[in-house]
Amino acid sequence: PHPDQREQHPDQWWQAIVKACRTLAADQPRNRRQVLGIGLSGQMHGPVLLDAEHQVLRPVMLWNDSRAHAEAARLATLCPDIAGTAGVPPHAGFPAPKLLWLARAEPDLHARIRHILMPKDWIGFRLHGQIGTDMSDAAGTLWFDQAARDWAPDLARASGVQPEWLPPLREGSDIAGHLTAEAAEALGLSPGTPVAAGGGDTSLGALSVGAVTEGALISMGTSGQLLRVRTSYNPAAHFVHSFAHSIPGRWYQMAALLNGARPLQWFADMTAQPISTLLAEATAADPARIPLFLPYLVGERTPLADPYIRGTFFGLADDTSRGDMMRAVIEGVAYGFALAAEALWGDDPRPDHLIGTGGGLRGDLMAQSLADVLGVPIWRAAGAETGPALGAARLAALA
Ligand code: XUL
Repeated sequence: PHPDQREQHPDQWWQAIVKACRTLAADQPRNRRQVLGIGLSGQMHGPVLLDAEHQVLRPVMLWNDSRAHAEAARLATLCPDIAGTAGVPPHAGFPAPKLLWLARAEPDLHARIRHILMPKDWIGFRLHGQIGTDMSDAAGTLWFDQAARDWAPDLARASGVQPEWLPPLREGSDIAGHLTAEAAEALGLSPGTPVAAGGGDTSLGALSVGAVTEGALISMGTSGQLLRVRTSYNPAAHFVHSFAHSIPGRWYQMAALLNGARPLQWFADMTAQPISTLLAEATAADPARIPLFLPYLVGERTPLADPYIRGTFFGLADDTSRGDMMRAVIEGVAYGFALAAEALWGDDPRPDHLIGTGGGLRGDLMAQSLADVLGVPIWRAAGAETGPALGAARLAALA
């Protein structure tokens, strides 16, 4: 609705899920009858606000919505130790500053809030009728004590949230409920199918490639992440996120980039060309003639923590080609990851390799550029483009 505001209505997610499940059921009628469990993955940091009747109060302010910038700064002053407890300093994209913003901008609506869910939890509610969340999505709210794996009521109150609005917590592999008859009918599945609590997309991306011990990975979706799994909670500086993983007894540290593959898609939209065409042109471009590109189309989180920073092309010439510009976009994104890697690993040794996941790594040029600037080989796991959905399926299997 506004340049710094990005919203979706949860009904759109539900409609998309119904459509996807119906398509799958029609394509694979036999497999459908063999579904033994359901897992959930979802975008993080978008508070779904429900009233006392469990009705959605407004469209969800998404992970890349930056309207609550002033409130994030206020929260950092109100709670100077918040990063140590909640795993990351306040940023406009997280739920806590968004709720502070709502209390000021939409007080009547704020007064009607009774439950706050994360996106996949609301889908869970539609599937099994239970209110709840999991550790990995709770981890991204700024209301969560990462070390204790429990809510931090003082942090909730500091952002105008009643602790009782926060849902019960489960581990991602716990059964959160069973498919209701109504949901089963809508999706073409069997009623009573168990539904695992699931997790946020970043931790489930890690789970999808087996990163459950000290592994490290790079993920390239619309957003991007560099992630290292830890067996204990380690808060860190430079806007590195230290969050609970979606399996018990595990945490992860993450450099979260708002500009993953999104700038590539943006350039494809601007030029009305398929990405594959642009990648081919960029591969043929002369490396000596590439302009500079800053990829910060929607601000940036790690390590800059700046919702107002923006993108730039620099060094354009009369004969700069479309392929040169695409190559600049790819290099700009890669160097954004290089800066984030310095924040994540600091003086620690870099890993031997990174496991790559997400659609943005499908093209060789993007993957190789990242490996070059990071100085670490990237292993593209077979089937890894399935991404967090495979992690969700693994949680369902555990449940
Ligand atoms: C993680 C993050 C994104 C969103 C959307 O911190 O903001 O991964 O979950 O993918």
